[in-house]
Amino acid sequence: MVSIVVGGQWGDEGKGKIVSYLCLKDKPDIIGRAGVGPNAGHTVKHKGKKYALRLIPSGFLYEKAKLLVGAGVLISPDVILEEIETLGIENRIGIDKRCGIIESQHIDYDKKSKHLSNKIGSTGTGCGPANIDRAKRTLKQASDVPSLKPFIMDVPLEVDKALKNNKKVLIEGSQGFSLSLFYGSYPFVTSKDTSAGMAAVDMGVGPRNITDVIVTLKSYPSRVGEGPFPTEFDIKETENHNIAEYGTVTGRKRRIGSFDFEQAKYSVMVNSASQIALTCIDYIDPNCKGVVKYDRLSSKAKSFINEVEKKVGAPVTIISTGPDMNETIDLRDEKL
Ligand code: GTP
Ligand code: IMP
Ligand code: MG
Repeated sequence: MVSIVVGGQWGDEGKGKIVSYLCLKDKPDIIGRAGVGPNAGHTVKHKGKKYALRLIPSGFLYEKAKLLVGAGVLISPDVILEEIETLGIENRIGIDKRCGIIESQHIDYDKKSKHLSNKIGSTGTGCGPANIDRAKRTLKQASDVPSLKPFIMDVPLEVDKALKNNKKVLIEGSQGFSLSLFYGSYPFVTSKDTSAGMAAVDMGVGPRNITDVIVTLKSYPSRVGEGPFPTEFDIKETENHNIAEYGTVTGRKRRIGSFDFEQAKYSVMVNSASQIALTCIDYIDPNCKGVVKYDRLSSKAKSFINEVEKKVGAPVTIISTGPDMNETIDLRDEKL
């Protein structure tokens, strides 16, 4: 059984929170990290502790899972080695031998290029320039880097072995659908596709093996960097909503707007979502903060959830009412 969790808007929908919740609940044997690379920042909050992760799968709190980084993902060796050490996961992390390697020249180029840094508003983490070199076939791979040697493996073989033994695999994407190089608001996008299909490719899992696709949507979507945002709030509306978010990687203030049903519907369609995880319902109604039972939600929150299901076209099975993993309503048993 393979589940994929991806973002349905401009990233930062709360995939870190959703993935960590699902992993502690469902106990997958393998948690895979797909997506672009260390441009992502996933926030995990559990038992009063906050983790900001850039390359390690957000489900690491489930201690029995193997944590595997797929070949499609770009790696900054310093970033991943520090995360491995800090989290103490040396004995269960695996990095595919074909992961692309970000070097200092990629980061310099990303930061100095007016086009990438100013026009697109890149995160400056070197991902775009590294993917340019990957397409030129000059980029180093993980197997070329001695410091990564203890963790190098063939991820697709590992996943295949697990699936043949009826084990569970959860794959986590990064960024969001509207940042896809193919389907997003080009040219204001990241350097790769970000849909569920790509996440499967990143991990070397074929399409017939995917059981579930969970698209994460935020009640008030956010965007960092440049590019169109049709439902964006002006400064006054943002202040009225009392929402202030800052990027995990760049510290930039996130632009906020109202839920865009057309965007969500298209994203659910291309991702072939079987479920929606809806986050930040406490932004719709602050009285819902921390609620763990559907019946306890206000009628305002419930009617928003119903509207999302009806207009977007997939069941809302997970509702997030706050950043902590426990602030979650899980309706999968009732709705699936
Ligand atoms: P990328 O992979 O970078 O796209 O990030 P992400 O999807 O993992 O999201 P990120 O952690 O960067 O941003 C989500 C923010 O919302 C974090 O600060 C979370 O702690 C927070 N968050 C997640 N779910 C909820 C929720 O239900 N309510 C509130 N208030 N905050 C939430
Ligand atoms: P890059 O991926 O660093 O090249 O950035 C390209 C665009 O994608 C910029 O608008 C970034 O702000 C945005 N972006 C990249 N990664 C993330 C992410 O993890 N969350 C939100 N936005 C991102
Ligand atoms: Mg983020």
